[in-house]
Amino acid sequence: MLRSTLLAAARSTAFRAAVESGPFDALVGRFVAGTTLDEAVAVARRITADRLVTVDHLGEDTTDRAQADANVAAYRALLHRLGDEGLADRVEVSVKLSAFGQRLPRDGEKIALESARQVCEAAAGVGTTVTVDMEDHTTTDATLAAVGDLRVDFPWAGAVLQSQLRRTEGDCRDLAGPGSRVRLCKGAYDEPESVAFRRAGEVDRSYVRCLGVLMAGQGLPMVATHDPRLVAIAQHLAQRAGRSTRDYELQMLYGVRPRAQSELAAEGQRVRVYLPYGTEWFGYFMRRLAERPANLAFFARSLVTR
Ligand code: FDA
Repeated sequence: MLRSTLLAAARSTAFRAAVESGPFDALVGRFVAGTTLDEAVAVARRITADRLVTVDHLGEDTTDRAQADANVAAYRALLHRLGDEGLADRVEVSVKLSAFGQRLPRDGEKIALESARQVCEAAAGVGTTVTVDMEDHTTTDATLAAVGDLRVDFPWAGAVLQSQLRRTEGDCRDLAGPGSRVRLCKGAYDEPESVAFRRAGEVDRSYVRCLGVLMAGQGLPMVATHDPRLVAIAQHLAQRAGRSTRDYELQMLYGVRPRAQSELAAEGQRVRVYLPYGTEWFGYFMRRLAERPANLAFFARSLVTR
């Protein structure tokens, strides 16, 4: 209920304006590395001391072609910088097709795919990879089709699947082949019962079934969750499938359970941190608030003191 309300508020322009008029303060900074490329690179460098990173240049639901092109340019600059700084072997990037114009009324899907292709070319040029984030269920088919197209030229292009969707176990089967990189998360969007499990227990059970398929498959499972029980199950299933700690990744968000991230890395796990940066932090930030009621109390306090 609270989650649905927050995610609905995230779509309100007036609410967005009120929140963004405040400073980029400590609460936003807990989840977002900063607003500039320099800030993101500095944080990524620090994290790579013991973990891997995937950097997300924030932006989504772009309805303007110029903005979509600017987002592509930002990713190219980011990738060149990762190459120049010698970070490309430990840092990849995550992209959202809606930031590249997927929702543009004319040729949106085509424009987004071409943009993602340019980002993949830049990534290949510096020797790193790209993972395509998954957004709400209305985009799942188009996004998976785009990843399929990208994988023809860039076999390492990664997909994201959400265990809250009823279809996902089947998608895992389709994507568990050789060379695939699949990030499995629970799903951050408020989806209808017709396509999604709505109860936490059902989402978790689906997550375990999906993990079973991915771990038994031939690709690289990327286990994106902060849920300690699911992390333990992933480790167990990996072992049972004969995978070493090199043959799958544990992934968590910047600012969420950082101590657990470092502890898992110290135990020899391959841990990757999802690191967002940029001025368009509102939608991402609201999804993080919606995931945990305790975050909301901090947020309410920060709005009052602004
Ligand atoms: P759950 O929400 O049950 O949380 C388990 C525990 O983790 C909580 O009890 C708490 O301790 C901690 N925790 C979780 N979220 C927190 C928060 N915001 N603040 C503080 N503590 C928190 N989603 C999507 O739809 N598309 C995508 O492309 C991605 N990409 C992605 C990449 C990576 C690397 C991660 C880790 C996650 C995503 N997600 C995502 C988000 C994902 O779908 C999900 O919303 C969050 O990860 C929260 O779910 P958990 O699995 O952590 O479980």
